[in-house]
Amino acid sequence: LTVDASLQNARKIPDKMFGIFFEEINHAGAGGLWAELVSNRGFEAGGPNTPSNIDPWLIIGDESSIIVGTDRTSCFAHNPIALRMEVLCDSKRTNACPSGGVGVYNPGYWGMNIEKGKVYKVSMHIRSSDAVSLTVSLTSSDGRQKLAAHTITGSKKSFAKWTKIEFSLKSRQNNTNSRLQFTTSKSGVIWLDQVSVMPLDTYMGHGFRKDLSLMLANLKPQFLKFPGGNYAMGNHLRNAFRWSETVGPWEERPGHFNDAWGYWTDDGLGFFEFLQLAEDLGASPVWVVNDGASLNEEVSTATIASLVKDVVDGIEFARGGPKTPWGSVRAAMGHPEPFKLDYVSIGNQECWMLYYRGNYQKFYSAIKAAYPEVNIISSCDRSTISPSNPADLYDVRVYTSSSNMFSRTSMFDNTPRSAPKAIVSEYAVTGNDAGKGTLVAALAEAAFLIGLERNSDVVEMASCAPLFVNDNDRRWSPDAIVFNSWQHYGCPNYWMLHFFKDSSGAALHPTTIQISDYDQLVASAITLQNATDRSPYLRIKVIAIVQFPCFNNQKSSKYEIKEKQEWARTLAIEILLQVVNFGNRAVDLNISVVGLANGIKMSGSKQTVLTS
Ligand code: AHR
Repeated sequence: LTVDASLQNARKIPDKMFGIFFEEINHAGAGGLWAELVSNRGFEAGGPNTPSNIDPWLIIGDESSIIVGTDRTSCFAHNPIALRMEVLCDSKRTNACPSGGVGVYNPGYWGMNIEKGKVYKVSMHIRSSDAVSLTVSLTSSDGRQKLAAHTITGSKKSFAKWTKIEFSLKSRQNNTNSRLQFTTSKSGVIWLDQVSVMPLDTYMGHGFRKDLSLMLANLKPQFLKFPGGNYAMGNHLRNAFRWSETVGPWEERPGHFNDAWGYWTDDGLGFFEFLQLAEDLGASPVWVVNDGASLNEEVSTATIASLVKDVVDGIEFARGGPKTPWGSVRAAMGHPEPFKLDYVSIGNQECWMLYYRGNYQKFYSAIKAAYPEVNIISSCDRSTISPSNPADLYDVRVYTSSSNMFSRTSMFDNTPRSAPKAIVSEYAVTGNDAGKGTLVAALAEAAFLIGLERNSDVVEMASCAPLFVNDNDRRWSPDAIVFNSWQHYGCPNYWMLHFFKDSSGAALHPTTIQISDYDQLVASAITLQNATDRSPYLRIKVIAIVQFPCFNNQKSSKYEIKEKQEWARTLAIEILLQVVNFGNRAVDLNISVVGLANGIKMSGSKQTVLTS
């Protein structure tokens, strides 16, 4: 392997080369990155008709002591459903309530993670024409262990009108499978609506679960593409992500059914929060707009105008001054400064649809007229892009087997070097090779990314997909980060991305592989500035996938297994490295080799300092 380390032969990798793509899939946001602990907080998930399903809320008590249903008496016009609890029992009457009272509880998203000493902000709306004594508590999953509690009391007049109540609960214990409950031993009717429990301690104080946000921050993502994927489209247009219904006070957001992935979202993680997350991560937001297409329906070009205006308004929400109509809505949410929204993707992989190209033209012209500096991403491939059908970037997706992914290291080698450039916005090894996340899949993806580094004169950005999976609701495998209410881990492809987190904006050096006894071997070399002392730093990445003939027999005998282990022990990968045109610079050299020989892992690393 020869690395030409001269500065004059190096080429700069684009500043925004490696980023992340967040989709609301697998409960990645609701019950995941967004730290809200209550699921179906506005009781809207069952739909606008009453009575409706209040899942996952459940009742404490039986029909002789409490009747629970929904009606349309909420004070919020866009989300009219409220919970109605008619308590029949009363400790002072013959029909005494069971000890502990009756009421309702919410188990969150497969249990709430409540931590000892931590503070949780509870926010709720209540109405009642009766005297109220309602205990709000965080408890164990069976309600027996009380972690924290607060009692709301009032006379018949206190809550005659809808009243917002906010208070904090500090937990006395740890419990990863907790619930929020409302209990009373007093008869009467109580309505509840828009019930929220948020930990006070969130990433940068902006409502994102800290541990999961840090997993993202540690990748140093240069862009954040959101909100999907199929989630942006919906199976049906009525269930698409509509940005304007996800901004403003959280209580007023209607929420919507994510029919692409089969669950309700309260839209606490809305357009504003995505922009805020991008800012907090130091990443450029890339907004995938709904352009009038769902997986099953589409709006014709003749009737697309109102949606085009809606998208231009969305850009104003992000970029407009605080006095503009939509910029003022953002400012009222606490962010008077505009967000740096420079990328808008028109739809999600919809080039095949009847009206896509006609609609695209309308979006392109309107956005460029209002915001000429916004980069527009087309869902069509580069062959369709021309002066009469322009695009700043075109979107590429790669989901394939590990061997095919590895071979795609050369996917862009023969791409014409003229504009537009590609954004590879979703890629992953899928199928049997990938399972729920394997090392061989990660290595194949690494080989693919090395190809993107080498071709970064025609590829501007890349992100894998999907990013997150809540282990309780796996709708897609593999995913880069797995979590539940309190734990998380990165799959091999997540950790592989760490080898690329310094590549954006770095200098790429020509490399030549002279001999290869290996089936699959690729390499790249970059120099970057050391963050602490700004000295140049040379990073060489080598991906080798080695196949041994005797390893290929699926039905291994005991003898063969032993033989494989011998092979693994004696196997050594020797890299003869020659750094040429090194000049008079001192650089740190860091080589890491991670290998997989048919299921057996190998790793090693070498760090040294080269001087002139
Ligand atoms: O990443 C999962 C899905 O794959 C996305 O929603 C869609 O865009 C793609 O087909």
